[in-house]
Amino acid sequence: MSHSVVKTDNWEAVKAECLKHLPQHVIDYIDGIKGQERSESQLISILHKIQAHSGYLSKEQLNAVSQLARVPLTKVTGVATFYHYFRLTPRGKHIINVCMGTACYVKGAEKISQELMNELGIQFGETTKDGLFSLEAARCLGTCGLAPVIMLDEQVYGPISPSDVRTILDKYIKQSAKTSEKG
Ligand code: FES
Repeated sequence: MSHSVVKTDNWEAVKAECLKHLPQHVIDYIDGIKGQERSESQLISILHKIQAHSGYLSKEQLNAVSQLARVPLTKVTGVATFYHYFRLTPRGKHIINVCMGTACYVKGAEKISQELMNELGIQFGETTKDGLFSLEAARCLGTCGLAPVIMLDEQVYGPISPSDVRTILDKYIKQSAKTSEKG
């Protein structure tokens, strides 16, 4: 058996394993840039495509990218953790976007963020342990007249003060408790 045959077999096995974790279009994309020098921007666009498909980047996916693109796992993980845009955990059931645009910022968006972080025990980009909420920062949500605003899923709340935060969160917590009772 020649070396090249062994290599090809391995490559197909690697690919089959990666296919379990990555969508076909990402594998095709990586295939398409094979042979080119691996730049950080290529790696970013690979990760971007995966996140657009899965909502976050799992350990298995990072590992599959490392194998397929032939980039050390430490480099793939380094890029994924360096850019705040990338998420390494699944998003929560409810997404809270705090508007940090200028109008909201001057009207106290930072205090609202702080209150949310205290109440939820998480930072921007994180998800509560129960998987109920993810906290994210947004640019102008287009409702500056209501500043400061937060958007919880599709619902905009504004103008709000830090003392409103608990009430808003409770509404979703109760809703979720009801749903699980029914289930
Ligand atoms: S700046 Fe917050 S909605 Fe425009």
